[in-house]
Amino acid sequence: MADVEALLPAAGSGERLGRGPKAFVRLAGRSLLAHAVAALAPSVDRILIAAPPGRLADVAAEAAAAAPTTPVQVVAGGTTRQASVLALLAHASADVVVVHDAARPFLDAASLTAVIAAARDAGAATLAMPIVDTLVRDGGDVIDRSGVWAVQTPQAFQRALLAAGHARARERGDVATDDAGLVRALGRPVALVPGGPHLLKVTTPADLAWAERLAPLLAPDRARS
Ligand code: CTP
Ligand code: MG
Repeated sequence: MADVEALLPAAGSGERLGRGPKAFVRLAGRSLLAHAVAALAPSVDRILIAAPPGRLADVAAEAAAAAPTTPVQVVAGGTTRQASVLALLAHASADVVVVHDAARPFLDAASLTAVIAAARDAGAATLAMPIVDTLVRDGGDVIDRSGVWAVQTPQAFQRALLAAGHARARERGDVATDDAGLVRALGRPVALVPGGPHLLKVTTPADLAWAERLAPLLAPDRARS
């Protein structure tokens, strides 16, 4: 049985970016999906990917090109990120799973290793970054930012714990934007592992423009110009 599996939700439609499904959007000569797969492959035994409807074969081809020696399984995603992760979990079998957004192309090996190690110790862990900017509400009221973190991916879990979080959410109809939130809702702690700005998510056209400029620095082995 595989020891660590990566679950890669890549089934989104990329509405805010406006360039079709983000998994296939090119950055520095490769798809966002290829960047994520190549970053995960050296540290996991198997990668399970949720693909957009009708694009399973395209996703499988991209993944095979990016990580030729890593076993990959592609499944149909759901209508929300949470549903896509649940679909991936149904096919997972490792003790530890690490969930990573296909939209975050600059994952580094040290961050990935650290979050997996923290999950082995604590059951659940996420990369996150302390907030440094002042936070205000629309009206201008300041929100105390002390002890506030911006949560990133990858997030790693003992698989049974993540499955319990998803099962509870499903029973109650709860929706969360990340998997760590579902585990926290079980009353279980989630370790915070310092990530960094390089773990940015490509959401908008401005993010993609930034990522293009950062690629030579953050993914020098993968950037093809
Ligand atoms: N995702 C998924 N299944 C969905 C929705 C999202 O697997 N039904 C994945 C995306 O492919 C992405 C990650 O979850 O890798 C984070 O989602 P997000 O950045 O919101 O991507 P999209 O949903 O594609 O973008 P948008 O919300 O702008 O449509
Ligand atoms: Mg989305």
